[in-house]
Amino acid sequence: MSTRTILVLNPKGGCGKTTLAVNIASFYAKQGRSVVLADFDPQGSTMEWLQARSEKYPQIKGIPAWKNELRPPKDADYLVMDAPAAVHGRDVTKLVKRAQSVVMPVLPSPIDIRAAAHFIHDILLNGKVSRNETKLAVVANRVRENTIVYHKLQRFLKRLEIPFIATLRDTQNYIRAAERGTGIFEMAPSMVNQDLEQWRSLTRWLNSKRSLPG
Ligand SMILES: Nc1ncnc2c1ncn2[C@@H]1O[C@H](COP(=O)(O)OP(=O)(O)O)[C@@H](O)[C@H]1O
Ligand SMILES: [Mg+2]
Repeated sequence: MSTRTILVLNPKGGCGKTTLAVNIASFYAKQGRSVVLADFDPQGSTMEWLQARSEKYPQIKGIPAWKNELRPPKDADYLVMDAPAAVHGRDVTKLVKRAQSVVMPVLPSPIDIRAAAHFIHDILLNGKVSRNETKLAVVANRVRENTIVYHKLQRFLKRLEIPFIATLRDTQNYIRAAERGTGIFEMAPSMVNQDLEQWRSLTRWLNSKRSLPG
């Protein structure tokens, strides 16, 4: 089986790229799959998350891809890539080329919604994306329901040509998990019930043909 490649991308900082990347990685690691996490951000947050990870959790291999050429092991089941902020132009193209699926987190804030609109406009013109060789989906992140700005984000995401696959709430659970180098899938289920439920539609998309090229 060839490696399944997933990129978490949005040039806006702080929208949840690293949070999504590490949780996607730990989701598959917990299922016993071999997972490689590649960090393209010189801030190295993903690598720090791995350093905090105790050996009692399923192993995930990290690659600091911002400094070393990324040569993922051929036998990896999953390659999860965490993109840096402020990427544009050819750097976006280079990243997108490596991925079968791109997940884009967007925050419910007017500034982030506008930035996402521009970025999505640009990325839909990207050859790989327009030729369906890379599939793109958006995720609303850090959502507090029943806020006006969340309703605005929802309206915006629903109007897009790309699938809006999940809404993740704003919760300390992600922060607590990150402190220990774990994902929410590795926390006590009673604490993260609601989050696991919200992730189901995200992982369903990732596990379906809808997220694969062709
Ligand atoms: N759903 C969420 N609920 C609460 N905090 C979150 C959530 N998603 C991200 N965060 C926090 O927001 C901050 C930015 O997230 P991060 O994943 O580092 O974004 P990026 O990698 O896009 O810069 C971090 O402190 C992270 O813990
Ligand atoms: Mg990050």
